[in-house]
Amino acid sequence: MISGAGSNLLALDDACRAGEVQGQIVGVLSDRSTAAGLDRARARGLHAEALPIMADETRSAHDARLLAAVSKLQPDFVLLAGYMRILDAAFVHALQGRLLNIHPSLLPRYKGLHTHRRALEAGDDVHGATVHFVTPDLDGGPPVLQARIKIKSGDDEVTLASRVQRCEHVIYPTVAQWCATGRLRYHDGKPMLDGRPLDTPVLQDFEF
Ligand code: GRF
Repeated sequence: MISGAGSNLLALDDACRAGEVQGQIVGVLSDRSTAAGLDRARARGLHAEALPIMADETRSAHDARLLAAVSKLQPDFVLLAGYMRILDAAFVHALQGRLLNIHPSLLPRYKGLHTHRRALEAGDDVHGATVHFVTPDLDGGPPVLQARIKIKSGDDEVTLASRVQRCEHVIYPTVAQWCATGRLRYHDGKPMLDGRPLDTPVLQDFEF
């Protein structure tokens, strides 16, 4: 599920096509009909659909419609890849344990928006991205894999965001492959990797 450019979606699709993820993208849904990622998905022959919220529609009615569209595609997992609308609890509960998100910070630091700016303003030495299971607590679901990079002197929001995105394009396919092969499961509200509870996320350092 996307709202924007869809670079993570393309990275996931590339990894599927290369056999690095033993899975396939069965469909792409967006809340924005103008999302560039929709056209990029269609250009690859993927099913891509926009489901914008309608003027007279409540959030729960919209999310029920969205859930119906998701269910029709029969995915094993649903990956939020730059999906910018907050999903209601009914949607999240229906997909509990099969719904993942990528967030551009080292969660629990910097939930929400403008993460790169906030990391720079705080004078942090490191920054990164997190893949986590989604719960109704926004950006608060259990983290699975984190990518960490050093913040360089002279970094600005644009340079930092672009290096974090390069990491995202590696760690999201990694987690997708863990899901596809059954290595990663969700049990009693906890991620389990290779049968062991993940009390803290796996941390991968990048030199980007
Ligand atoms: C990514 O940086 C992701 O972390 C954030 O939104 C951005 C989406 O980018 N949630 P893209 O649409 O995958 O290019």
